[in-house]
Amino acid sequence: MKARRYRIAVIPGDGIGNEVVPAAQHVLDTAARRFGFSFEWQTFDWSCERYTKVGSMMPSDGLDQLRPFDAIFLGAVGFPGVPDHVSLWGLLLPIRRGFEQYVNLRPVRLLRGVESPLRDRDAGSIDFCVVRENTEGEYSDVGGVVDAGAPTERVTQTAIFTKRGCDRVMRYAFDLTRRRRHHVTSATKSNGLVHSMPYWDSRFDAIAAEYPDVTADKYHVDILSAHFVRHPDWFDVVVASNLFGDILSDLGPAIAGSIGIAPSANLNPEREYPSMFEPVHGSAPDIAGKGIANPIGQIASGAMMLEHLGESEAAAAVQAAIEKTLSDPRAPRTADLGGRSSTRDAADAISGLI
Ligand SMILES: NC(=O)c1ccc[n+]([C@@H]2O[C@H](COP(=O)([O-])OP(=O)(O)OC[C@H]3O[C@@H](n4cnc5c(N)ncnc54)[C@H](O)[C@@H]3O)[C@@H](O)[C@H]2O)c1
Repeated sequence: MKARRYRIAVIPGDGIGNEVVPAAQHVLDTAARRFGFSFEWQTFDWSCERYTKVGSMMPSDGLDQLRPFDAIFLGAVGFPGVPDHVSLWGLLLPIRRGFEQYVNLRPVRLLRGVESPLRDRDAGSIDFCVVRENTEGEYSDVGGVVDAGAPTERVTQTAIFTKRGCDRVMRYAFDLTRRRRHHVTSATKSNGLVHSMPYWDSRFDAIAAEYPDVTADKYHVDILSAHFVRHPDWFDVVVASNLFGDILSDLGPAIAGSIGIAPSANLNPEREYPSMFEPVHGSAPDIAGKGIANPIGQIASGAMMLEHLGESEAAAAVQAAIEKTLSDPRAPRTADLGGRSSTRDAADAISGLI
């Protein structure tokens, strides 16, 4: 039988990306050895640092270079001195859009040993997924400033929702819940956004009708945010547009403890293009270079990558090792979780359990 070998494009990016990515690669290599496969990692220096040197986050043929890989493993981009819209539109968004990674999947689980900022919440009582539309909607570059400098100066920003874009992300959410608790919640705001959101709602109703075995409901995003805090146990899969999903998928991990442990996946479910795996957190310039960043978000993103590659046993082993260290008060943990360990020690502890 041919040995299983996966080619992974690695983009550590900026700040703590350069610390948590190598730590996570080390854990994933351990899992690969244990389960009889291997990784061929190729690292790209695409980052804000590159931008300040040569004027672009990645080369003009960046997507062509990434296309042959089985997956992309990303740290974080963004650093003081480079405007955030440059790092976003110069690297992340072209990859997400160019590779039709239309699902941004963020699991939200309160794990044993992690304290929720919410009172009286035990492990297991928060367990849902946010499915964010990742390629269209409110994040569009259609618009502009008119009459700049004149008293009539004005700006428009056009949101674009397509039938294909809505339907495919909603179907993903419904398919996902069939492997979970058969319940999908949609985030809307049809009282305020009178064109796009009633359309989003109508597509949600149409797709929900294809899944009679699934309970479907919807909330305006403002009260939905309040319910995330008050009743996180109400949710199983939450599907949202790009902007609403962006906000909800930060709020979700926040109620489940440290942002340093939250993973995410940018998926092209049809596998026509490589998918990209990255932690929810950013480059954390305030702690970069100190070797104290929590590597768990990056490692858990690696577990999602293993699952996507079909290495389910290895994915489960990595996830179990994460959960075991978190639940062990004597295991090394980083400062964001109340410990004093380094990134490397925290990763080594997980690696040692695989
Ligand atoms: N996907 C991405 O690449 C991505 C996502 C979010 C933010 N960013 C960028 O990162 C930069 C900083 O953004 P921010 O400060 O709003 O968000 P951030 O996630 O980088 O940091 C927020 C806070 O959480 C802490 N934190 C984050 N990750 C941690 C970890 N692994 N371990 C311990 N503590 C951790 C940081 O120290 C900071 O106090 C910005 O340039 C932003 O654009 C990038």
